[in-house]
Amino acid sequence: MQEELERLEATALAELAQVETHPQLEEWRVRYLGKKSALTTVLRGLAALSPEERREFGGRANKLKATLQQKHTETEEALSLSSLSRGAAPIDVTLPGRSQPLGRLHPITQVITEICAVFARMGFQVIEGPEVERDYYNFQALNIPQDHAARDMFATLWVDSRDDGNARLLRTHTSPMQVRIMEQHKPPLRFVVPGRTYRYEATDATHDWMFQQVEGLAIDTDITLRDLKETLFEFAKSMFGREMGVRFRCDYFPFVEPGGEVAIECVACHGAGCRICSGTGWLEILGCGMVHPNVLAGCGIDPSVYSGFAFGMGVERITILRHGVDDIRHFYSGDFRFLRQF
Ligand code: PHE
Repeated sequence: MQEELERLEATALAELAQVETHPQLEEWRVRYLGKKSALTTVLRGLAALSPEERREFGGRANKLKATLQQKHTETEEALSLSSLSRGAAPIDVTLPGRSQPLGRLHPITQVITEICAVFARMGFQVIEGPEVERDYYNFQALNIPQDHAARDMFATLWVDSRDDGNARLLRTHTSPMQVRIMEQHKPPLRFVVPGRTYRYEATDATHDWMFQQVEGLAIDTDITLRDLKETLFEFAKSMFGREMGVRFRCDYFPFVEPGGEVAIECVACHGAGCRICSGTGWLEILGCGMVHPNVLAGCGIDPSVYSGFAFGMGVERITILRHGVDDIRHFYSGDFRFLRQF
């Protein structure tokens, strides 16, 4: 029996040295440590031996079992480790992780959010409206009747060909929302309206056929031109910096009286005059004015009781001025090299 145990140990260890995979190791375990293994048979047979023999061989057999179990555990650990490093190269745990590309808001969306936040601080609510509009809201209710020369200010993309107030078009500005707001809400009211607008125009570095505007409207009993200037100067300084020079001048829009425009000091030459500002030293950022009495009356608001101001700005233009972008068409080119910079 002594010899048998020694032979068993020698073959078991020799075979274990050949084991290369976990399934092979499992086969080995069944063969040498399993219920039907030679060693188990030896251990079971101990009962039939005399007490002296049992003591002698029992000790050796149990020692062999412990040895084989120990070797089994060691081999299992070694196999697990080497399977980690199998393949072309071992894992280098000092390498940086693979970064997940993270989405972000489009630069125009970022600036719209910022513009709305500035006006929200001054008590304006944010509202949106339809991009496919009626002639009535885009023109007629804004004091621009059929055949009015001011229609030339807005090269229009028509959706259908009828020529009355119901004709559908892609809104050329966000001003139709002034009318929709005044029809649905009673003064006092203060709203800003961000959204897409469309014009039937050839594109170049400063013009695109689709661009975004933010419209503003405030109506109450005592609103004056001074409120308009104060609000828009505060806006311009919030967006472009407190030290920025801001200018207010008269301008014409059929739906306001008086009408105006706000300009900021040229971001490139700071007023000296350069190519960016066409030598004027100023950059126009928005159109505005006191809401025309005809527009108020058309929306059922009595112009002898209420007054208000409105303004509209191009978001791409403001973004271009803030970031020094050289072509408006970059914004919708889908070019990640451009978009990733914001
Ligand atoms: N809607 C005008 C435009 O698109 C801007 C504007 C809005 C002017 C409100 C005055 C008042 O050019």
